[in-house]
Parts: sequence; C-alpha cells; structure tokens
Amino acid sequence: MPPTTSATPRALSDSEPATGPATRPHIAVRPATLEDGGHMWRLARDSGALDLNTSYAYLLFARDFSRTCRVAVVDGEVAGFVLGYRRPDAPDTLFVWQVAVDPAQRGRQLAGRLLADVSAGVRFVEASITADNAASQRLFERFAQERGVALERADFFSSTDFPDAGHETEGLVRIGPLDR
Ligand SMILES: CC(C)(COP(=O)(O)OP(=O)(O)OC[C@H]1O[C@@H](n2cnc3c(N)ncnc32)[C@H](O)[C@@H]1OP(=O)(O)O)[C@@H](O)C(=O)NCCC(=O)NCCS
Repeated sequence: MPPTTSATPRALSDSEPATGPATRPHIAVRPATLEDGGHMWRLARDSGALDLNTSYAYLLFARDFSRTCRVAVVDGEVAGFVLGYRRPDAPDTLFVWQVAVDPAQRGRQLAGRLLADVSAGVRFVEASITADNAASQRLFERFAQERGVALERADFFSSTDFPDAGHETEGLVRIGPLDR
C-alpha cells in the first residue's frame, strides 16, 4: 500500500484569513508523531463533544497509525487532529474516527485541511456522526461537495449498541469515490 503522505510538514497558506502578513499565523498539517499522542488526548478532552479515549489509545494511534493521523500546528502549537485508519477489510477506505480543533481555532478550515491531507490517496472516506453535530455534519458535506462526489448515509451504531449509558446514535457517512 503506498504511503498516504510524506513526513515533511506542509505549510498551508493558500486560504489564510486576510489579516495581513504580519499577523498571519503559520499553519502546518503533518502526520502525528508519538509526542502528539498527548496533544490529541488533550484536544479530545477539551473538545466538548468527543468521547475521550484513554491516553494510551492516542499514543497507540500516533505510533501505529501515523500515516492515517494528522495534526494541525498553528504557530508551533498543536491545534487540531484527525485520527483515522484504513479499514482492514477495505483498505481503499479511510475511516475517520475522531477530528477535533481547539475551540479558539475553529471556523478557519483547519478541520477541512486535516481531512484533505489525511484522505490523500484513498478512494472512500467514512465517518460516524451524531445527528446534532452540525459542525461535523457540515465538515463532511463540504468535503464531498468540494470534490463533487457522493455522500451516502447509513445506519451505524445505535445508542443501544453501546454498553455504557450516554451515547447517542451514530450515523455513518461514506464519501466517494475520490480521485486518488
Ligand atoms: C467539527 C470540528 C472539528 C470542525 O472544525 P473547524 O476547523 O472549525 O471546521 P472548518 O472550519 O473546517 O469548518 C467546517 C464546516 O463546518 C461549519 N461549522 C463550523 N462550526 C459550526 C457550527 N458550530 N455549526 C454549524 N456549522 C459549523 C463551517 O462553517 C464549515 O462549513 P462551510 O465550509 O460551509 O462554511 C470542530 O467544530 C470541533 O472540534 N468540534 C468538536 C469535536 C467534534 O465534534 N468532532 C467531530 C466528531 S468526530
């Protein structure tokens, strides 16, 4: 399977806010490294929306799935991440497990950039989203619209599938086929 990215940080300045060069933040999106595991855990904890996994899980993803995970670094601070993996039985499909952006950095297309970078080279992108998560719904809708591909919805995990209380039903979105 070809790598989905190089390990070189990629500066993304094409659609920075028009605040002038002096105040323009430096934004880079790069694969996660082991040190990012802790940053991803903190961003998930402070996201206000995500199920917080153990810190071990974020470290493990940073170690073993770095090709399908990305962090967004704004002026040297990790301000967003996407956590994903290629489905073992369908390796042309990237499942996006979690995406989060620091609340102070939201609305600036950071999540869109993370998604664009991590999905390079895959044919389909899948994610599960709760019906009430407008920002996440919009994120994936825009991703599909920009590429002119279908976004299909299907049942995924119902609230009763979860053994512990407090989980909403998660619907599946499947986007593609993408040009590789
Ligand atoms: C979802 C999330 C990652 C989006 O990050 P972001 O960097 O602000 O997203 P973007 O700037 O790329 O915006 C994506 C789209 O969502 C829209 N959006 C952002 N916040 C929104 C909100 N609160 N309500 C409705 N739409 C919203 C944006 O306007 C944009 O749509 P547009 O391109 O049509 O204008 C961020 O809101 C977040 O971290 N939420 C908490 C964690 C979460 O719910 N993760 C998703 C489930 S795994």
